[in-house]
Amino acid sequence: MNDTILIIGASGQIGSELTQKLRKIYGNQQVIASDIREGNTELMTSGHFEIIDATNKEAILKVIQKHQVTQVYLMAAMLSATAEKYPQKAWNLNMNSLLNVLDLAKEKHIKQVYWPSSIAVFGPSSPKKNTPQKTIMEPSTVYGISKVSGEHWCNYYHEKYGVDVRSIRYPGIISWKTNPGGGTTDYAVDIFFKAIENGSYDSFLSENTRLPMMYMEDAINATIQIMQANTKDIKIRTSYNLAAISFTPKEIANEIKKHITDFTITYHPDFRQEIADSWPQSIADIDARTDWNWQHQFDLAAITKDMITNLQAQKNKKLENV
Ligand code: SER
Repeated sequence: MNDTILIIGASGQIGSELTQKLRKIYGNQQVIASDIREGNTELMTSGHFEIIDATNKEAILKVIQKHQVTQVYLMAAMLSATAEKYPQKAWNLNMNSLLNVLDLAKEKHIKQVYWPSSIAVFGPSSPKKNTPQKTIMEPSTVYGISKVSGEHWCNYYHEKYGVDVRSIRYPGIISWKTNPGGGTTDYAVDIFFKAIENGSYDSFLSENTRLPMMYMEDAINATIQIMQANTKDIKIRTSYNLAAISFTPKEIANEIKKHITDFTITYHPDFRQEIADSWPQSIADIDARTDWNWQHQFDLAAITKDMITNLQAQKNKKLENV
């Protein structure tokens, strides 16, 4: 493996864990982290870090040339809830960053690109259950519009210019190391933090809102798996549906109660309810499973156990250090 990898958006929820996993596989010096802001200590001290504004193509090119980068993982994006507040800014960041990286691949500065899409590409008119790979896609959010457009740009650059760009439609991602920011599925992360801190959670989604979700470890494995797959096995160049589990706030609360018996949950849906209601409840991902052998490992019980164990350990450590 002689690749040198640049991660743009390495300080974010997925980027930070992806960077550490790639550093383990490819070697610390081979994986360059970058973001518009600094990340956690582990990220900053385990390898190179560069400040990059993803909307600045020249800045990206400079870092690619400096480190002789061959692959880019573009993880920088404004998520669904924040994008509704800043539509223009979201479009600018989500679209221009992608077009910059696709252009750099077209110009042969890099060989391979990873870019995440999302369940947000689907909208109110898409089938809600087992949403197929190919179906009606009329997103009602700015984030969804940017992702569906981005998917078509990926496909276009592949078809017209032979760019090797690969993509997955992530569901909500659950993790404990770095907080997500500005997403609608973030409740499924917050709920664990609040359960450990306060023993209670006030949910911004209603109790029966079912959404597709996945544990971080599974998401990272899928990401690296699709990038390492043989080119001939990547048959979809827009973006692959990807699924693990689906649950509601009520169901996750009940699972948490198995560990924290006096945990309580209340429901005060806000503007994010409408976003969640526009998305699928479950996703059909047979193409990813067939084409490059995708398999998830974590179910709701396993996620809950792992989240609570790690967050409790983190809290105990902090208390010891006080
Ligand atoms: N997790 C994202 C969000 O909620 C969806 O891709 O915005």
